[in-house]
Amino acid sequence: MENAELFYKQPENQREQDNEAMHGLIAARSPNSLLEIGCGSGDMLNRYDNSRGIDINRSMVEFAQKRGNNVVLGDVTDSGVMEQYLGIDVIAANYVFTELKAEQIKAAFKNIQYSLRNQGTFYFTITNPQTRHREDLPGYKVVFDEQFKYERKDIPFTVLLEDEDGKLRDVGIRDFHNPIGVYQENLYNAGFLETRIHELSGKNDFVHALLFECKK
Ligand SMILES: C[S@@+](CC[C@H](N)C(=O)[O-])C[C@H]1O[C@@H](n2cnc3c(N)ncnc32)[C@H](O)[C@@H]1O
Repeated sequence: MENAELFYKQPENQREQDNEAMHGLIAARSPNSLLEIGCGSGDMLNRYDNSRGIDINRSMVEFAQKRGNNVVLGDVTDSGVMEQYLGIDVIAANYVFTELKAEQIKAAFKNIQYSLRNQGTFYFTITNPQTRHREDLPGYKVVFDEQFKYERKDIPFTVLLEDEDGKLRDVGIRDFHNPIGVYQENLYNAGFLETRIHELSGKNDFVHALLFECKK
């Protein structure tokens, strides 16, 4: 996801509603400190005091900084970057880990667990791997580079987003499919004690996204 202007030019879509679902959970616990991974425009950061963000993409960082957010360039899979954030109450990531391969997810979860305070919480959303291949996804379409098989790891795909005219548009999203087990196993191995998965459904009545709530 390299072009912030193009990505955020798309009309309000399902992803933003899903971000609201996460915000509801976080706001209810009034965090002392919040770090957002892959913060993009930084919308979530605007809502919290003592909040910071990192994003791997320079265009996203500049976009968020222009809007007054405390954001730096950084890669969540890099332990040297994440060691700069310690004792964080809440770490959040909206639609970031589908941009990572299984080995990168493993490194990211380990780093995040290390940066959280004891009993801190890590929240993240992903598109639901179990319904990802459907044709009737709300506001977007997934195009696989290789044959889709649910249990296969790291299948590359492109996400096309619907614009105002209802046309599907490539805005540069290149993601990877991994089954839910990859997320669960890596959370467990990173040392998260308890994970709850909230199912998100919007316009359509199937579960298009999953919101993970993970306790250290
Ligand atoms: C689909 S965008 C979502 C942006 C934002 N969270 C939102 O919901 O509007 C995914 C974001 O994750 C960032 N990202 C991808 N891999 C990353 C990594 N390894 N470390 C930090 N950020 C990453 C991308 O640059 C991009 O801004």
